[in-house]
Amino acid sequence: MPTKRLEQRDLEACAALFAQVFSAEPWSEPWGVDGALARLEHFHASPGFVGMLSTSDKGDVTGFVLGNLEPYLDCQLFYLREMCVASHRQGQGIGSRLYQALERELVERDVRAVYLATGRDIPAAGFYQGLGFRCSESMAFYAKGLKG
Ligand SMILES: CC(C)(COP(=O)(O)OP(=O)(O)OC[C@H]1O[C@@H](n2cnc3c(N)ncnc32)[C@H](O)[C@@H]1OP(=O)(O)O)[C@@H](O)C(=O)NCCC(=O)NCCS
Repeated sequence: MPTKRLEQRDLEACAALFAQVFSAEPWSEPWGVDGALARLEHFHASPGFVGMLSTSDKGDVTGFVLGNLEPYLDCQLFYLREMCVASHRQGQGIGSRLYQALERELVERDVRAVYLATGRDIPAAGFYQGLGFRCSESMAFYAKGLKG
């Protein structure tokens, strides 16, 4: 199952996958393809974009991971923004292979650390911990909702 760099021409297929995966449990968010495309295009157009894509033998997108490099002191960090695998292909090792491919790209670029924000109690937390991520004891993620 090939893993390759995610390019602009892949964004529409990734958006369709994203909308499918995050509309389903455990996320159940009301994503449509247009909204998903706007989000993925935003990251793609932002400085330091790096993404990896996994396809089936037929060429269908089965998963992707993406985010952006950012300067920090004398080094670079990578903010992993989105990652998903097609619902019917989850649990088959695709996500792990995608992440390892991404990490190889980042090591080549001398990235010091990868960070991400995700739900504390969602199943994906176990996935990230299995890859070596740890929930920071010293840092916290703050958010404030604003009413329009
Ligand atoms: C999270 C996700 C990207 C993982 O990809 P995947 O291809 O299903 O994961 P893998 O098959 O490579 O699993 C690798 C390891 O993580 C574990 N893992 C994967 N999904 C898990 C889950 N839902 N709960 C607990 N452990 C999980 C597997 O057990 C496996 O461990 P093992 O190697 O000891 O068997 C994928 O399940 C997904 O897209 N989920 C929905 C979207 C999502 O939550 N994205 C991340 C939000 S930021």
